[in-house]
Amino acid sequence: FRIAILASGRGSNVAALLAARERGELPVEFVLVASDKPAAGALQLAQLAGVPTVVLDPRDYAERRDYDFALFERIAASKPDLLVLAGFMRIIDGDALQPWAGRMINIHPSLLPKYRGLHTHRRALKAGDAEHGASVHYVTAELDGGPVIAQAPLSIEAGDDENTLAARLLPLEHQLLPAVVALIAAGRLALDENGVSLDGERL
Ligand code: GRF
Repeated sequence: FRIAILASGRGSNVAALLAARERGELPVEFVLVASDKPAAGALQLAQLAGVPTVVLDPRDYAERRDYDFALFERIAASKPDLLVLAGFMRIIDGDALQPWAGRMINIHPSLLPKYRGLHTHRRALKAGDAEHGASVHYVTAELDGGPVIAQAPLSIEAGDDENTLAARLLPLEHQLLPAVVALIAAGRLALDENGVSLDGERL
């Protein structure tokens, strides 16, 4: 089962995926880590693990759409069965996404459908929520809006700020994402017109 990852940042979720494979918990092949940021830590982590990398800089493209199609052409060339967005911070053109419907997931630091987009920790605190968390969902053209697969909840404590919340949530993300990828690689999860199913049962 071949996996390509897209990441823009430090890459702690990439590291968690690689570590899960190292531990023998994720019988997959990482065929590519792609990034829009030449300095992304995710790229270094991939290189250390011997995973091929590609960087496409959006500044080299006149149109957003041209960039997205170029990026997805490179990704397609690595023939992945699944694309994992692990902190990929760009909104992707809907037409570029279309061929990957049901084969592309994202991890997002909120209990979706709450707080799509940025600054999720801040927004959960500002709303006075008692609970925060992370979600893994299938990617559709709607930003952070595709069908949710699984979530990891986290209690918000008195005195929490954005940093403490982010720091407590991150280790949960690092469990959640490899666990979902393992289910998909095992053929246990699927998305069809009725929604997400696990072992043939609708979630
Ligand atoms: C994570 O919080 C993830 O949920 C969000 O971006 C962050 C990426 O962190 N989409 P990292 O680059 O994996 O460390």
